[in-house]
Amino acid sequence: MSATAPFREQRTLLTERLRLEPLGPEHFDGMWEGLQDEEVRRLTGTHAVFTREQIADHLGSRAAAHDRADWAIIRLEDDAFLGEIVLNDLDADNRSLGMRMNLNSAPLFGRGYGTEALRAVIVHAFDDVGVHRISLEVFAFNPRAQRVYEKCGFTVEGRQREALFWDGTWHDVILMGILSTDPRYVGGG
Ligand SMILES: CC(C)(COP(=O)(O)OP(=O)(O)OC[C@H]1O[C@@H](n2cnc3c(N)ncnc32)[C@H](O)[C@@H]1OP(=O)(O)O)[C@@H](O)C(=O)NCCC(=O)NCCS
Repeated sequence: MSATAPFREQRTLLTERLRLEPLGPEHFDGMWEGLQDEEVRRLTGTHAVFTREQIADHLGSRAAAHDRADWAIIRLEDDAFLGEIVLNDLDADNRSLGMRMNLNSAPLFGRGYGTEALRAVIVHAFDDVGVHRISLEVFAFNPRAQRVYEKCGFTVEGRQREALFWDGTWHDVILMGILSTDPRYVGGG
């Protein structure tokens, strides 16, 4: 694994129904739509309100960010932008990364897209890139995401109490991780 630039040549990943392609300016409309969705904002704890210019800047800078990988989740059937999945927070010395993902809106949830995308990213990170560990955070009020992560082999490693303040209420954050040596298909589906 290249210590500081493991994603210098970020690959497109193919699954049965999806294409995970490097995120870029061509995904502006899909990204913008997802950021307006109130349920997605709640489930990802997105307090910030981004301007169109900020999103354009973010998308335009992805190709030069070699220490992380941002993928657009594209449905093969109709080329629809479904959401994004990201490996970030590189710790090169310890070969570890963080992961976050979201689909764009509730009608896309529960159809297996998230599991399919995440499994492809895990296999790529461990088998192609040479990562040892992937970590993530998920809110206690998001059992769907927790289930997906457990199905893909993540284990609960801790809990940050009242780390999110949303709509006047404190919520816990659950910390999960998977190692390259862990089983990856633990929950079927
Ligand atoms: C989280 C997310 C990526 C998961 O992707 P998805 O395509 O919806 O999930 P899948 O269809 O692959 O799998 C959902 C699983 O959760 C289960 N599930 C759904 N609602 C559930 C609930 N309330 N409690 C427990 N399990 C639940 C489903 O039954 C399914 O498991 P199964 O295959 O064992 O039946 C997607 O829902 C999403 O983007 N949500 C909004 C943003 C978000 O939450 N991002 C994650 C932040 S940490």
